[in-house]
Order: sequence, then C-alpha cells, then structure tokens
Amino acid sequence: MRFTCTNCNLYKTCKSPIWSDGDNYNVMFVGEAPGKNEDEQGRPFVGYSGKILRSVLKEPYYITNIVKCRPPNNRTPTDAEVNACLPHLIHQIDSIKPKVVVLLGVSAQKLLRFYNPTVKIIKHSHPMAAVYSGSVEKWKEELQEKLNKILLNP
Ligand code: URA
Repeated sequence: MRFTCTNCNLYKTCKSPIWSDGDNYNVMFVGEAPGKNEDEQGRPFVGYSGKILRSVLKEPYYITNIVKCRPPNNRTPTDAEVNACLPHLIHQIDSIKPKVVVLLGVSAQKLLRFYNPTVKIIKHSHPMAAVYSGSVEKWKEELQEKLNKILLNP
C-alpha cells in the first residue's frame, strides 16, 4: 500500500506512511508510531524496541502502528493524530481479521476508546517502557504467556 494520507499534518514531515511488516494473519502487533529508523527504512519496529519485540516473535507476524507517520523528533502522537489515523488501523483489523491484536502501550490502547473489536485483544506495555524500567526479560515472558494463552487454547 503506498499512498499519501492527509488526515493529519504528519505527512508533511515524515518520508512516507509506514503501513505494516509481515504477512501473518493470526497475530497483529500494534505499536505507537514510526521513529527515525522506521522512517528511514520504511518498516515498523526496526529500531531498539523492534529488536526486543522481534525477539519474541517465533511465529510469522504482522506489525503495524496506531499512527502510520513519524511524529517530528519521535514525540508521542497527539490524540488528534491518533484519531485521524484510526480508520487505517480499523481497516487493517477488519480486512485481516487476526485471531488476536496485541496493543503495545498507551497510544496503541487508545484504539479501544473508539472501536469495539470483534477480535481478541491483548494489552501489553510498550517495549520501551520495559527498557526504561529495566524489565525487558519480564516483559518478554509475560507477552509470550499472554500469546500462548490465546494461541494454544483457541
Ligand atoms: N517503532 C515503531 O514502529 N513503533 C513504535 O511504537 C516504536 C518503534
């Protein structure tokens, strides 16, 4: 998918929207927004938090963000930007119909304020929150446990 979205102003400062990576339709991971590395490489979660997240992904996966364009200086996207971008994520969920959507962190969890999902939802903290609190291993174990609960017991 390659088109320019003008729902908010982030298209003016990012290289291009970053839609997704991976082609697994069972598990969809949703982060906050692309950062500098992602903007340069055109793929979500390729920086430090991506390294942590991808180390948990044994299965094929599908990764995206609640906001598709990089906010300047990697700032947190505003509520207005999240709202403006939501139709894209809702379209991804509705068309892919994953078994489970993993919402990583506070920004991604804003989806639930506006959308009543028909798929299973896992709420987990953002990998960078685990880095800041020095609990990366615990973060990985708990994410794996939550995934196993759903994927191994359909
Ligand atoms: N990279 C992303 O694509 N999303 C995040 O939330 C963090 C880093």
